[in-house]
Amino acid sequence: MSNEHIIILTGAGVSAPSGLSTFRGAGGVWRDHDVMKLATPEGFAADPDLVHTFYNDRRANLARVEPNAAHKAIAKLQVDCPGRVTLITQNVDDLHERGGSPDVIHMHGSLLQGLCMACDARMLWTGDMNRRSACPKCGAVGSMRPDVVWFGEIPHFMDRIADAMETVTTFISIGTSGEVYPAANFLSEAKSLGAYTLEFNLEPSARSGKFHESHMGPCEDLLPKFVEDKLYWSLG
Ligand code: OAD
Repeated sequence: MSNEHIIILTGAGVSAPSGLSTFRGAGGVWRDHDVMKLATPEGFAADPDLVHTFYNDRRANLARVEPNAAHKAIAKLQVDCPGRVTLITQNVDDLHERGGSPDVIHMHGSLLQGLCMACDARMLWTGDMNRRSACPKCGAVGSMRPDVVWFGEIPHFMDRIADAMETVTTFISIGTSGEVYPAANFLSEAKSLGAYTLEFNLEPSARSGKFHESHMGPCEDLLPKFVEDKLYWSLG
């Protein structure tokens, strides 16, 4: 059994080749949508219809997209690597799961989950949600929100992530700008614990110079070969 513990952090760039928009840069969601209105608790309180419509559209769009070669390569590494592989994603889509990943830590929540603000229950939610939606657990009407983490809220599973970080030996950042905290801290945390760090991004990010290795190009092209090579050397 290998002592290697790889932590992978993914962002919107992994799902971009499947047809889902990134947030920043050309064509990014926050270029033509107001983040304060759509991704904050205050925005939701001010105009729940607007926020529900935005997330309903994104949830419905999931049915039209498929996992790509990057999702599948990450899943292969998780399944076949002799060491431990922890996958943390900032993405709220389900493409890692559909790409074959057996365990995904959704630190920014999930489009396919609802959260009841009355009873705190979380449940699978695949259809539209609106101000008249009732909680399937407590029956409250008007208390449902998408279980996605908005700006100003604490990401999910931070205890689990902190536990995983304690034994990290390799940290791989894939398709994320590294601009949103606390995920933006993971690189320096991993480095301070002695981990070897790698980045895969379409183009240099603000943090590229801080990784031991930076691989520039489409992750859907780069990752399958990287994983194949990594498994070859790990498995012998
Ligand atoms: P960003 O939109 O900030 O960054 C996406 C990154 O993916 C950029 O650095 C791109 O260069 C890169 N990229 C695009 N296509 C790629 C490809 N084919 N291969 C490799 N890299 C590619 O998205 P995130 O970093 O995920 O949070 O954003 C983090 C958080 O900010 C999101 O989870 C979301 C957003 O606001 C919340 O909504 C709370």
